[in-house]
Amino acid sequence: MFLLFHPDSTPSRKLVVQGLIVEMSNHNAKPMLLDALVAALGADGVLTGAAVQERATSWIDSTPLQALAIVRPRTTTEVATVLHLCLAARQPVVTFGGGTNLVSATRATLQDLVLSLERMSAVVEVDAVNQTMTVQAGAPLQRVQEEAAAHGLFFPLDLAARGSATVGGCIAMNAGGVRVLRYGMMRDLVLGVEAVLADGTVLTSLNAMLKNNAGYDLKQLFIGSEGTLGVITQAVLRLFPAPRTHFTALLAMNEFAQVTALLPLFQSDLGGALASFEVMWNDYYRLTTTPPALGKPPLAQAYAYYVLVEALGGSERHDQQRFEAALDHAAHEGLFDDAVVARTAQQRADLWRIREDSEQIERQHHLTFGYDVSLPIGAMEEYVEDVRSGVELHFGEQARCWVYGHLGDGNLHINVWAPQLQPEDTDRVAQIVYRPLAALGGSISAEHGIGLDKKAYLSLCRAPQEIATMRLLKRTLDPHNILNPGKIFDLETSAAA
Ligand code: LAC
Ligand code: ZN
Repeated sequence: MFLLFHPDSTPSRKLVVQGLIVEMSNHNAKPMLLDALVAALGADGVLTGAAVQERATSWIDSTPLQALAIVRPRTTTEVATVLHLCLAARQPVVTFGGGTNLVSATRATLQDLVLSLERMSAVVEVDAVNQTMTVQAGAPLQRVQEEAAAHGLFFPLDLAARGSATVGGCIAMNAGGVRVLRYGMMRDLVLGVEAVLADGTVLTSLNAMLKNNAGYDLKQLFIGSEGTLGVITQAVLRLFPAPRTHFTALLAMNEFAQVTALLPLFQSDLGGALASFEVMWNDYYRLTTTPPALGKPPLAQAYAYYVLVEALGGSERHDQQRFEAALDHAAHEGLFDDAVVARTAQQRADLWRIREDSEQIERQHHLTFGYDVSLPIGAMEEYVEDVRSGVELHFGEQARCWVYGHLGDGNLHINVWAPQLQPEDTDRVAQIVYRPLAALGGSISAEHGIGLDKKAYLSLCRAPQEIATMRLLKRTLDPHNILNPGKIFDLETSAAA
């Protein structure tokens, strides 16, 4: 199948679908498009009606999915065909992975076609010598982790939604998670990408080399572009030797200066083995260690801060010695007031659950607003106090702020709740959380991206020239704005223009 022509100015467009020339007038464009998609992908490749609505909007929003249809291509060629047809019909396309993003980056309307990568989830190849994995975009993150482990290797990106989040989604959102401190974000773990452009061009940049400086690094266009510049169909991921040891400890302290001094101490004493340095302010720790949460408090709930540290290493004998020496050093310097070290895999999992069980917030307190900011570590204590007092000033003393996150990455998550909080308060709370960041050189999105939820605030941490250049790239690669339109920023032209 190929596109015959699609002159912008004419009211009808001609397509050749399996040898049949079909005219697409504006009047019958949608049914014709769906017929053409069924002809191209087969009946089970296109879901409509109840089959769409029985799916949830996202991982955190169980309301029925809204979409004109869901298309489920099986190959990159089929993805290219879908985009050919959609461009001809000026049909907006929302690419869908596991639906686990937290910023409405995959939110669709009844006018949008959802392109799901669920039937493109194969691990294509593991090259154990080169330490790379080639994988289709719809593969869940956890499968990639397990496949790497089966080869004695390690894919380090990790986050609580690992069972549902897909590789393509992690790339499109440039996911972060709990080991960024040592291994970087998804951007640092992707060597090559295959993507389909809005006009159906297949861009195969499946580079597997650590170094490749031959011209522009085109994969970077798609990493973090939230489905607005192309549809990622495959990737080459970077693997690492599997760690042989895991040392995990929870430390508690009352002074923020202890937290900030602890990080560089562990970084240097552990000789680069420190993979996670996660923080929980008191409210968050109490929430995730008190029923109905399943976590139990391994340390008293009275401390101001809790730090979860984890070191990954290669030598049972040396690593234990080194970890214990680092803890002794920190104790000697007075950098924590109490600590517990995991001795078993179960204890390690229990410590991690305390940190990862953030869904308790929304489960126990509706409605909450969630934020994902970055700022210099030294400014965090004062910043959190400012946010807290700003929220209490506006919403009363019953208002709550749960603060936790990847302190080692300069990244805090803040969830806000107050008894009388309404959806209309979104902007008021956002201003309290975001306003101080510009002066601190921080960001309104450290790792979750922008999607729809944060786009009104993009200009708080991006210069007009930066946003203009983003728009220029979008117009160049997707001139008819069919790929995830309206996410990250708006263009003046609409998909129908
Ligand atoms: C976390 C998610 C919210 O770090 O990013 O738990
Ligand atoms: Zn996070």
